[in-house]
Amino acid sequence: MKKNIFALEGEPVRGAIFDLDGVLVDTAKYHYLAWKRLARELGFDFTEENNERLKGVSRARSLEILLETGGLSMDEAEKAAAAEKKNAWYVEYLRGLDESALLPGSREFLEILRGGGIPRGLGSASKNAPFILERLGISGLFDAVIDGTQVSRAKPDPEVFLKCARVLEIPPARCVVFEDSLAGIEAAKTGGMRAIAVGKQENLPGAEKYISSLQDML
Ligand code: BG6
Ligand code: MG
Repeated sequence: MKKNIFALEGEPVRGAIFDLDGVLVDTAKYHYLAWKRLARELGFDFTEENNERLKGVSRARSLEILLETGGLSMDEAEKAAAAEKKNAWYVEYLRGLDESALLPGSREFLEILRGGGIPRGLGSASKNAPFILERLGISGLFDAVIDGTQVSRAKPDPEVFLKCARVLEIPPARCVVFEDSLAGIEAAKTGGMRAIAVGKQENLPGAEKYISSLQDML
């Protein structure tokens, strides 16, 4: 392994925590298709631009943003039913998911870290994360998996990453988080962690380093 694979200044990084959707796997398009289908059923169009606001955001909060976009409101029971419907469609779209959906460099980088003795964690808002990791065949590459079923506060709250660091037994300041959403970058920084953004600086201000995919880490 290269001496300083993360190429970050300061204290050496001891652990890496990964967001899932948009960092390791290209599932964002399926989330979008399912939300768009729900919006259409509710009588309005939901554009890709609108969808940017949903990245990294929990399912419940995503629905609220969607309803806000369409100028609609729902009571709690209707919201629960709508979120469940969207998830059923999303899971249906995921049925064909396999290793080919991994984003460039994902598996290779995780394997390099494993070879270099750097613990790896997953910190995802998704309640479908364990299922997706299985489909991608990368579950075994993680020492800790914290998903949307294990947190009570969504990103930008740092709970998901702090829990992950705790399981990895690495101080937050020695962890680096890989994120493709603004909420996730904020969560990492609020939690006292380093952040590498997968995306552009203009969309994701505040990270220490910018990459277009994990391929750039190889
Ligand atoms: C995040 C995605 O990883 O997970 C969001 O970026 C999604 O778009 C969130 O809403 C929750 O996912 P799920 O699978 O529990 O609906
Ligand atoms: Mg993401």
